[in-house]
Amino acid sequence: MCGIVGYEGTREACDILIDALSRLEYRGYDSAGIALLGQGAIHIERRKGKVEELRKILDGASLKGSIGLAHTRWATHGAPSEKNAHPHRAGDVVVVHNGIIENYLALKERLKKGGHVFVSDTDTEVIPHLITDYAQKGGSFVDSVRLALKELKGSWAVGILKESERTLVAAKNESPLIVGVGDGEYFIASDIPAIINRTDRFIFLEDNDMAIFRGRDMRIINVEGEDVVREVRQVRWSTEMAEKGGYSHFMLKEIFEQPRAISDTLLGRTREEEGDVEFEGVVLPDLAAVRKIWMVACGTSHHACMIGKHMIETNLRIPVETDMASEFRYRNPIMLPGDLFIAVSQSGETADTIAAMREARSRGASTLSVCNVLGSTLAREADNVIFTHAGPEIGVASTKAFTTQISVMFLLTLHIGRRLGILGRHDVRERLREIRAIPRKVRSVLDAAPSIRAAAGRYMSFRDFLFLGRGINFPTALEGALKLKEISYIHAEAYAAGEMKHGPIALIDDGMPVVCVSPADRTYKKTCGNMEEAMARKGNIILISDDGTHEMAARAAEVITVPSAAYELQPILSIVPLQLLAYYIADLLGTDVDQPRNLAKSVTVE
Ligand code: M6R
Repeated sequence: MCGIVGYEGTREACDILIDALSRLEYRGYDSAGIALLGQGAIHIERRKGKVEELRKILDGASLKGSIGLAHTRWATHGAPSEKNAHPHRAGDVVVVHNGIIENYLALKERLKKGGHVFVSDTDTEVIPHLITDYAQKGGSFVDSVRLALKELKGSWAVGILKESERTLVAAKNESPLIVGVGDGEYFIASDIPAIINRTDRFIFLEDNDMAIFRGRDMRIINVEGEDVVREVRQVRWSTEMAEKGGYSHFMLKEIFEQPRAISDTLLGRTREEEGDVEFEGVVLPDLAAVRKIWMVACGTSHHACMIGKHMIETNLRIPVETDMASEFRYRNPIMLPGDLFIAVSQSGETADTIAAMREARSRGASTLSVCNVLGSTLAREADNVIFTHAGPEIGVASTKAFTTQISVMFLLTLHIGRRLGILGRHDVRERLREIRAIPRKVRSVLDAAPSIRAAAGRYMSFRDFLFLGRGINFPTALEGALKLKEISYIHAEAYAAGEMKHGPIALIDDGMPVVCVSPADRTYKKTCGNMEEAMARKGNIILISDDGTHEMAARAAEVITVPSAAYELQPILSIVPLQLLAYYIADLLGTDVDQPRNLAKSVTVE
């Protein structure tokens, strides 16, 4: 998705903005641009392609200016091109935008009739025109911005620069935007990693906020013109956490960070002595009255929900319904007041998930979000929030967010189980011992990385993969297939192993590797049967299991053995080799692993 950065201070803005923009590259984009206001006019440069292309033209230009905006664009309206790249300008107003203006066509028609001339195919371009239109009617700059924003329908985070008044405005509605507070300087950004090397103090703007920066002063008002007060919060992510630290890609670094990330998820929450789990500040509603739990998310986070469903239903016998957020919202779900709705999201900014949570709230559910990003919309809007504490996840392909989400769900199951008296102190103590061992076990899976890299070399030229798993291993299979297709562009699909014979078996031959996620749990024998069926059709089996001695292991084309864990925690151990397999295949194929084509890290449009 688009990335916004801005600066207002005393230093030269150009390098600061380009550095911040390059730290947002992980969000996914197709063009980049910058606007700098020096002593005279605003200077704009835009390029199709990477930030590096923009940097090249700026290097020779030695542009001066201590106020500016920069942007990476992920095309929604209009092809990726220089003319559609941001910033967009009308008169002396320049705008960068993330989101979608749903009523842009109507606005554009009206503005055109009023004499405004448009030069791009974007929805964004209506914003500077609308602002200048209000200004031409006599409004002050701030009032013109306010009135323009009030007319927009859809989602937006915008940075707006007014040449003649040397004023910068940052405003948002349903798209993230933060303000970084420095010493005598301010930064704006779509996400914390962009400016974490500049400051650790942040203001998380709320919907309809407008932060106005003028001559080193900042004031926040809402679109009604009323002053609002927003807390400055400290974020303890180090710069190193948001950098590659010697790894060739963020994704690989993040895969290897999982033991630490899971330990951080557990930190301060487990009470071994009492056999209990506490989440600071979380007060769940009357759990005995909860008839159903809903777990809703997108992509990888949705797969984590599917695992959470197994945990809660198996251990607590409370019905759990999972759904993709984009489906949930439009299917008129039958929720009962008091149901518990859990929204799961790494970024906390996924538009579909936010919309689903709002829908659930309007139907009387109590809301809990499981998020990684402090200050994100889902974290702020939910009645309760549990942070995964995975640290910044920069690679577009989600890895440590997934395993920490599963860890949170395990802890949540124990927490609810104790409150309802379903799990006893001894039970929980035992389970806590199991999850405490997980970081060490993940480390031992990571030790097998060289052999997984070798296997990747043997499979990188196949064009189709089938992933199979049963029960709690099915979401792991879905996640393994998602990882492979996202970053290597190889077609991969996942099926519940028992479903294979109902259709996908027709595809199996020696050109289609079959990845079986099959630990020695209660579904093991059945999945072995499915592997037999695949092998009978010349399918090459890649077996991920904690049982390396089974005769199936001897007959599989590849075996990746992982340690054993409790049934509910085995997915954490099974997914790590699949993350590595996908990573190494993509790396060998030479794809853009951290910023795969067409994908965005945080999907802030519906
Ligand atoms: O930030 P979220 O967890 O809400 O993001 C949800 C999906 O967009 C995300 O998991 C996506 O599927 C990833 N690219 C998966 O690797």
